[in-house]
Amino acid sequence: MSERETWTTRVGFIFAAVGSAVGLGNIWSFPFQTGSNGGAAFLLIYLLAVFLIGFPAMMMEFVIGRGSSMNPISAFEKLGYGNWSVAGALGVFTSIVTLAFYSVVGGWVISYIAGSLTGAYFGDAGTFFGAVSAGPTSVLTHALFMAITIGIVAFGIQNGIEKATKVMIPAIIVLLVGLAAWGATLDGAAAGYEYYLSPDFGYLAANFASIVPSAVGQAFFTLSLGFSVMVAYASYLGRDDSLPADGGAIVVVNTLVALLAGFVVFPVLFAIGAEPGSGGLGAAFVSLAGAFGQIPGGSILGFVFFIILLLAALSSSISLLETPTSYVVDNYDYSRKQVATGLGALVWAVGIPTALSTNTLGWYNAVVFNLLLPVVVLLFAVFVGWVASDLSADEIGRGTTLDAGFATTWLWWVRIVIPVAIGLTLVLGIQSLLIRAGVLEAAVILG
Ligand code: PHE
Repeated sequence: MSERETWTTRVGFIFAAVGSAVGLGNIWSFPFQTGSNGGAAFLLIYLLAVFLIGFPAMMMEFVIGRGSSMNPISAFEKLGYGNWSVAGALGVFTSIVTLAFYSVVGGWVISYIAGSLTGAYFGDAGTFFGAVSAGPTSVLTHALFMAITIGIVAFGIQNGIEKATKVMIPAIIVLLVGLAAWGATLDGAAAGYEYYLSPDFGYLAANFASIVPSAVGQAFFTLSLGFSVMVAYASYLGRDDSLPADGGAIVVVNTLVALLAGFVVFPVLFAIGAEPGSGGLGAAFVSLAGAFGQIPGGSILGFVFFIILLLAALSSSISLLETPTSYVVDNYDYSRKQVATGLGALVWAVGIPTALSTNTLGWYNAVVFNLLLPVVVLLFAVFVGWVASDLSADEIGRGTTLDAGFATTWLWWVRIVIPVAIGLTLVLGIQSLLIRAGVLEAAVILG
């Protein structure tokens, strides 16, 4: 077996991890979650969740990955806790299920890029969405998106993922800044900013119980936590960098990109008087795209927007494919190209039902969000905080000038605060899955 690769530079790792974090979650779900949860009220709680829960949780995955220099399944064995491989494996499974539908949405984005050029969605965005989101077109664009993802992962850590994300991330930021500047010139800008940035504390108080778990869930998803992805990426760190410093940079950039996306989406929506964020991901593709069709210069705006979305989606999908790929490449004698292709084809197949029905896609998403992701985070927290705590404390301090007090505080945070926050999300998540399945009455959660 050939030698295991590492990132060429520290910045290379940061770009790759930012690439994983910045995705559909930032540019698509974040503005629309904010929109459907009362605007700035949600934003406030989301920021707290990202920095107080997400950031320390990211360190958990980093510690497992760098501490073992192994893929997320073998990592636990290497650290001397073979039974815990189950936790890593569940994370890898979650990556596969997530990529299966994430790449379908990536495929929709490809259709919208084409639609911006032909003007196909300008007249009736709803009909366009119906045509490209479920059925043969969607299966095809899903395949195309997966093919690009496989292409990048096949080239490996340095020549594939690191090189690609070093181009994608700056491009995403520059283009988003450009769009946000354009957004500022629109008629809806003032109203949009107002909704986005001035919190309605009455709304917050009244909806606290539903805002908190959504914000915590979104914080984990946007930081790619609970999928073993950050375990895999940190395992390619051959160096003694400061994990908290790298993690801090990743969290800050990821948050800035999400905030920027809000500065694009809200002015556009308010410019045409659209309701911000009613009814889920599909409706989002309809309302924003519809707005592009109605404002001056909207076709260029739309084209650029969907290009950004595609780059962001790809820089995330490669991390989701890398996670299972790293396991097979570490343990079996197949070439990376073979493994990426084989696993990519498997993911594509698993995703086909979601390319045929947006309802099925909603189910995959709900199971990941409400069940798999919180369970994996919970397992990691118990492992890092309680089971392998000495090792974790050593590893978090390596390469830093932080004193032992930092490690101790972090460890207690991981032991208590993160499990409580994610445990709450899990309980509410299971409840909402049962409601979705028709087992529970919606009144239970509302009452
Ligand atoms: N963080 C990505 C986003 O915001 C999604 C993702 C989750 C990517 C998990 C990789 C792993 O879109």
